[in-house]
Amino acid sequence: MSSNNNKLAVLHDVTKVYQTGVVKVEALQGINLTLEREKFSFIVGPSGSGKTTLLNILGCIDVPSSGRFTLLNQEIGGLNDNQLADFRNHHIGYIFQNFNLMAVLSAYENVEYPLILKNIAKKERHQRVSEILDSVGLSKRQHHRPAELSGGEQQRVAIARALAKRPDLILADEPTANLDSKTGAEIIDLMLLMQDHYKTSFIFSTHDMEVMQHANEIITIKDGKIESVNTTIMKQKEGV
Ligand SMILES: Nc1ncnc2c1ncn2[C@@H]1O[C@H](COP(=O)(O)OP(=O)(O)O)[C@@H](O)[C@H]1O
Ligand SMILES: [Mg+2]
Repeated sequence: MSSNNNKLAVLHDVTKVYQTGVVKVEALQGINLTLEREKFSFIVGPSGSGKTTLLNILGCIDVPSSGRFTLLNQEIGGLNDNQLADFRNHHIGYIFQNFNLMAVLSAYENVEYPLILKNIAKKERHQRVSEILDSVGLSKRQHHRPAELSGGEQQRVAIARALAKRPDLILADEPTANLDSKTGAEIIDLMLLMQDHYKTSFIFSTHDMEVMQHANEIITIKDGKIESVNTTIMKQKEGV
């Protein structure tokens, strides 16, 4: 097996500069990073350190100011806008801090929606949505709208929605920031379980110390630079 195939992302001297009028912010200052597939990685660092900027680049939502970025063996800088949108749609799922669910749709419909956009037939949609809602423990609440669900339940719907299209990579920017610590820990545990089950790669940002303990790779970033990359033993959910 070519070792190249196991690479999720390779960043080479990636910088990001925000220019607002005369003010220039160097949010990322020469990031060199290689991430393997099927890992649960955390980007940690204080507020303003560049976590969101780095996640947006990894998620192909934003592009570097300079440097090279390869995701799933695809040189991202070589894609035009349509190709990039297509690449995102096929390969990446997103989970947001504020869940970003559609208020008028039920839990079921929220999870189904991206599959409709991917032109997946109704029967297969039904099978996938039911399976994934079951995995996240929400079968009984599938006909409820977001306003009728707790924050933790809404984040479960968001996780199910991201997983339903079976992406290679799921990104989440501080996914537990709007949850209490107990619910946040439950959500991380659920994501670990889903990562193990679906073999999706997960990359999260957080500045929550408690949440960090669950990672198997921690990338620490400070002032737009990588401070350290630590691979740790992940908490085992189902024995060794
Ligand atoms: N759209 C933007 N325009 C100008 N500056 C920005 C923008 N987004 C982020 N920044 C600046 O870039 C730096 C990194 O921000 P960010 O990536 O959001 O950090 P974090 O997510 O770790 O809090 C900060 O100094 C922030 O103020
Ligand atoms: Mg941020």
